[in-house]
Amino acid sequence: MSPGAADRAWWRDAVFYQVYVRSFADSDGDGVGDIPGITSRLPHLTSLGVDALWLTPFYTSPQHDHGYDVANYRDVDPRFGTLADVDDLLVKAHDLGIRVIVDLVPNHTSDEHEWFRSALAAGPGSPERDRYVFRDSPDLPNNWHSVFGGPAWEQVEDGQWYLHLFDRTQPDLNWRNPEIPAMFEDVLRFWLDRGVDGFRVDVAHGLVKEEGLPDQRFTEDEETRVATSFIDPGPMDHEPMWDQPEVHDIYRSWHNVLASYRGDRMAVAEAWTNDAESLARYVRPDEMQQAFNFHWLTAPWSAAAFTKVITESFAAVRPVGASPTWVLGNHDVVRPATRYGGGQVGLARARAATMAMLALPGSCYIYQGEELGLEEVDVAREHWQDPRALRTGEPGRDGCRVPLPWSGDRAPYGFGPSTGQPWIPQPDDWADLSVAAQEADAGSTLMFYRELLRVRRTFATTAGDDVELLDLGTEAFGDDVLAFRRGELTVMVNCGNKAVVLPDAAEVLASSVHVVDELPPDAAVWLR
Ligand code: GLC
Ligand code: MG
Repeated sequence: MSPGAADRAWWRDAVFYQVYVRSFADSDGDGVGDIPGITSRLPHLTSLGVDALWLTPFYTSPQHDHGYDVANYRDVDPRFGTLADVDDLLVKAHDLGIRVIVDLVPNHTSDEHEWFRSALAAGPGSPERDRYVFRDSPDLPNNWHSVFGGPAWEQVEDGQWYLHLFDRTQPDLNWRNPEIPAMFEDVLRFWLDRGVDGFRVDVAHGLVKEEGLPDQRFTEDEETRVATSFIDPGPMDHEPMWDQPEVHDIYRSWHNVLASYRGDRMAVAEAWTNDAESLARYVRPDEMQQAFNFHWLTAPWSAAAFTKVITESFAAVRPVGASPTWVLGNHDVVRPATRYGGGQVGLARARAATMAMLALPGSCYIYQGEELGLEEVDVAREHWQDPRALRTGEPGRDGCRVPLPWSGDRAPYGFGPSTGQPWIPQPDDWADLSVAAQEADAGSTLMFYRELLRVRRTFATTAGDDVELLDLGTEAFGDDVLAFRRGELTVMVNCGNKAVVLPDAAEVLASSVHVVDELPPDAAVWLR
């Protein structure tokens, strides 16, 4: 550790591993991943070398949005285990030096939450209805769209409408009602008291809506883009449901709750805002510690695009003193290997992009299965489960949520003790991608990730926070190479179609393919 590294908060340069609980490991053979399954697979995470886990929601839930529809924020869904199982996971992970953050879903509850049930029972004008966004209206109260397609309003029997920015089964809470912030502070304390290291805050930009709920105004082509708005929300002329100034009051009060606990507890915002500046507001010194930086997810395979992502990401967080985060995939987007073209080329590029991300100052988020080089699966229509897919009729997010292959040559590939397919069927050609198969293959993506994370530890806290972009557009590397220096480390990613010569006398610390003195296309190298 360098001087100063000891008092640097752990999350600043942590590698987080996102566990999509339903799809990581199944302990009881019901074909659905669960908490004891995660605990049993902690050795995979220690040998991978990650610093922290982010667990997607495991709370009591009817699972219409696979846990992002919470019916009880203070309990564990029996499908996933018990509170005692979570306590056990926290203890065992902490014993191994792995921190654990959990998902917090404050924008909406499930329609099976007792608050929503009592709101329906109590009727129009009641204090129970005021916890949600109910309106009287002869027709739709405004023109807002659900992120999952269709109108954002549902009518109930007595004629009132309630707002749901996501699925109909996910009614939005009314954060202007003081009962709501009070309840969520209790929820934060409930999990902090049990020992979680922090929270991933779902839809952090959505909690407060503009007074009066005015219509949203679309830019010209926006109408046609609504279905993809999950990844690319803007630009709309006016978005009264997102990124309202009052959300920041909430995060300032959560900051104080986190700060009242020992051990650098943290929160990371999932906020799909229109620009880097608005995202940076979530990580001001008295708000959250991190915000997901989604720019890499929308960038094509291009050195110029990556350079822009890096430059803009630093430009946004530096003025507020925050450190950046880097994200290549998650449970809502197409897997990187597929996004970059699929097949051998897509995988090579995903590995190379990972090297750029892991070399940058800040914290990285790895989505489960990226370390196996998994591709998006083409899930047959009859197996679709994603509410967005079901509402829009377009393939949704099921393809990146297929349960992990651990071993063996057929489904469920060691995912659990059952025979046959888990909750989303696995492809029949995954045998070579299993953890066991890749452990036996020195050239596998898994062994590559382990090596990268090992080497990363040698510089992550000592190489400094300054990044110098190198020679882009000059003869040295060419337009197609992303190249940057961080301390003694030089990183090159070849996004072009010609091999480029490596600098003389450079020592190769790691590379995405075997390199001698040239870097082939779709490859990356760390040099010293
Ligand atoms: C977040 C989650 C996504 C979920 C949505 C609604 O964006 O990542 O999976 O569907 O919020 O809670
Ligand atoms: Mg199970």
